[in-house]
Amino acid sequence: MAFFSSSFNHWIVMLPLLLANSILVASAGNFYQDFDITWGDGRGKILNNGEVLTLSLDKASGSGFQSKNEYLFGLIDMELKLVPGNSAGTVTAYYLSSKGSTWDEIDFEFLGNLSGDPYILHTNVFSQGKGNREQQFYLWFDPTTDFHTYSVLWNPDNIIFSVDGTPIRKFKNLESIGVPFPKNQAMRIYSSLWNADDWATRGGLVKTDWTQAPFTASYRNFNANACIWSSGASSCGSTSPSSSSSANAWLTQELDSASQEKLTWVQKNYMIYNYCTDLKRFAQGLPLECSIASQS
Ligand SMILES: *[C@@H]1O[C@H](CO)[C@@H](O)[C@H](O)[C@H]1NC(C)=O
Repeated sequence: MAFFSSSFNHWIVMLPLLLANSILVASAGNFYQDFDITWGDGRGKILNNGEVLTLSLDKASGSGFQSKNEYLFGLIDMELKLVPGNSAGTVTAYYLSSKGSTWDEIDFEFLGNLSGDPYILHTNVFSQGKGNREQQFYLWFDPTTDFHTYSVLWNPDNIIFSVDGTPIRKFKNLESIGVPFPKNQAMRIYSSLWNADDWATRGGLVKTDWTQAPFTASYRNFNANACIWSSGASSCGSTSPSSSSSANAWLTQELDSASQEKLTWVQKNYMIYNYCTDLKRFAQGLPLECSIASQS
C-alpha cells in the first residue's frame, strides 16, 4: 500500500489502510464494478453476473469498454479469448491510456487472420504523445480456443508486457539518457473490437469477411494490483480479496534471471518486428532507447 504525494517523490507504506482497502475491494474482479461499456450500441455485453464481458463487431459497428478507475502504476491482468475462425481484418485492442495531446499509452493489439493463420500481437509504448515503438509477436498457442492472460506490469522503473506469465517485452525507464517514461499521468484501461481491414492482416491485403459476422472477443478474470488515481492522489491496493501487503511487491519488481531468460526466448523465437532493428525506417538514427541492449 503506498500513498504518493502529488509530485510522486515520496511514498509511505501504510499497512492498516491496505487492509481497509482490501476489504473495500473484496467483491471486485467484476466487470459491472470495474468497467463501463462505452460504445457499440449493445454489441458489448456483461454476462454471468459480471464474470464475463464480450465485445462484438459486425458491418455496422464494433464495440468497446473502459475502466471506471484511472490507474497510476499497476500490475494488471486480463484474460482474453480472441475472435475465432476467420478473424482477418479485425483488431482487438486492449490498452492503457491517459488523455490529452501529450498522452501516455501502453498497447496490446491483436490482429486477426484467416483460419489457421497466426494472429499478430502488436505492442507499443507512448510517452508524452510519442509512440513509434512497435514490437510484434506471434504467439506460441492459438489465442482463440481458450482464455489466456495478458498482463502489464507498470511501475516507476519498467513496463513489462507478459502473456500467461511469460514476459514478452520490457520498456525500461531510461529518463537518465533523456527518454521520457510514462509516470506522471494516470491511465484508464480500454478495449475495443473494430474493423481495420485497411492495414491489419498481411498489411491490408486480406479483407474482413462480413459473412462471418458478428465477430466476438471475450474477457474474464480482470485483476488489478494497482494504484488508483482519484482527486490528485493515488492509493495502491488490490482488487483481489486474497492478496496481502506483499501483493505490492510489483511496485519495485524487476525481471529475475529466469524471467529474463523467458523474455530472451520469446524475442528470439516469436518476435516478428522490432522497431529497434528497423534501420530502414529510422535511417536518421534509431530511437535513443534502442542503444541500450536490455531494452530489446
Ligand atoms: C497472417 O498469416 C500470414 C500468412 O501466414 C502471415 O504472414 C501474417 O503475419 C499473419 N498475421 C497477420 C495479422 O497478418
